[in-house]
Amino acid sequence: MPPSQWCDGVSHCPNGEDETRCVRLFGPNFILEVYSPVSKSWYPVCQDDWNDDYGKIACKDMGYSVDTYYYSRGVAAEVSFKSYMKVNTSAGNTDLYKKLYSSDSCASGNVVSLRCIECGMSIKSMNIMNRIVGGSGAVLGQWPWQVSLHVQGTHVCGGSIITRQWIVTAAHCVEGRFSDPYSWRVYAGILNQDEMLLRNGYRVQQIISHPDYDTDSKDNDVALMKLETPLSFTDTVRPVCLPNPGMMFQPDQQCWISGWGAEYQGGKTSNNLNYAMVPLIEHSRCNSVYIYNGMILPTMICAGYLAGGIDSCQGDSGGPLVTNKNSVWWLVGDTSWGTGCASRNRPGVYGNMTVFTDWIYKNMQVKYLGVFNNFKCPKSETLFYL
Ligand code: ARG
Repeated sequence: MPPSQWCDGVSHCPNGEDETRCVRLFGPNFILEVYSPVSKSWYPVCQDDWNDDYGKIACKDMGYSVDTYYYSRGVAAEVSFKSYMKVNTSAGNTDLYKKLYSSDSCASGNVVSLRCIECGMSIKSMNIMNRIVGGSGAVLGQWPWQVSLHVQGTHVCGGSIITRQWIVTAAHCVEGRFSDPYSWRVYAGILNQDEMLLRNGYRVQQIISHPDYDTDSKDNDVALMKLETPLSFTDTVRPVCLPNPGMMFQPDQQCWISGWGAEYQGGKTSNNLNYAMVPLIEHSRCNSVYIYNGMILPTMICAGYLAGGIDSCQGDSGGPLVTNKNSVWWLVGDTSWGTGCASRNRPGVYGNMTVFTDWIYKNMQVKYLGVFNNFKCPKSETLFYL
């Protein structure tokens, strides 16, 4: 495909792949950006003439469903923006991306901030610190994106709600005999395991493990579960926000882990949901000889205390590592591994969600298989539809 035909509103490839990932939300304020194949760079969208109908199209293209659409509004443009994408209203009834043109001016001075889902809100503010190891008991609604993933009536792993139908978990949770979607049940909005046993849970329709997940190194330890029936969002069941590109998480940034995992190394699953605050640990530091000595790959992020005492543990895997920024909770990581639990110089290791978001959005885009049938590929290619 010549780059000039990417993102031009015409799908040339069988899955419409040349038209996916042409829009993104950037930074903590969800600034809508559109990719220009001409200049090979991303531009913010000027708020002039923008409306919610366009917002819904952009959200749908990213993989969100229109029924969770939240809002689009103008926010003051940063001085660093030199060019914008603008809507050409006289372009008539054509594709959104064909209506956009790049311009050096934006009369309102506002760019589009787009929220495709009301994510990252928790009704319960933190009550002071003080199982995870060294944590505290959660209250209902405090971590509303946290789910418990069961196989045969037993809690196996944690997960995080990102949309009404999609759960993020760890790839190692769904390995081998756990890869069959029909053996899983998902529990949302419930604090105690004994209460879950009295309920049915949500069925899983599909499990997608990261194709580059590596069992030995735990590289790319992330997976998606698609629910058979969508969740209804309430005060106690809500999605967390996926991190946007361009978000800076500082070393030492305060994050929170939650889960029903063991409360001490070798312990059994906790009946109630626990949580703890853990600071992020800088990559190079976590990789140093006296900590994980080179085992921390770019797809991983460390969090915890080098002194030990507070950590995630067995059964917390797949669950969230979140942080609060701009009054929104963001999914920074998914619980992956660690040597022992809460041991000195052996902090928790989490999947680095920021590097997984492209993969997640790609898999949420349902246009795969069959919908884009009006394609014309420039070269003849052999297509496999499984
Ligand atoms: N792999 C574990 C699980 O399956 C999570 C271990 C986390 N360990 C740690 N020290 N933070 O539940």
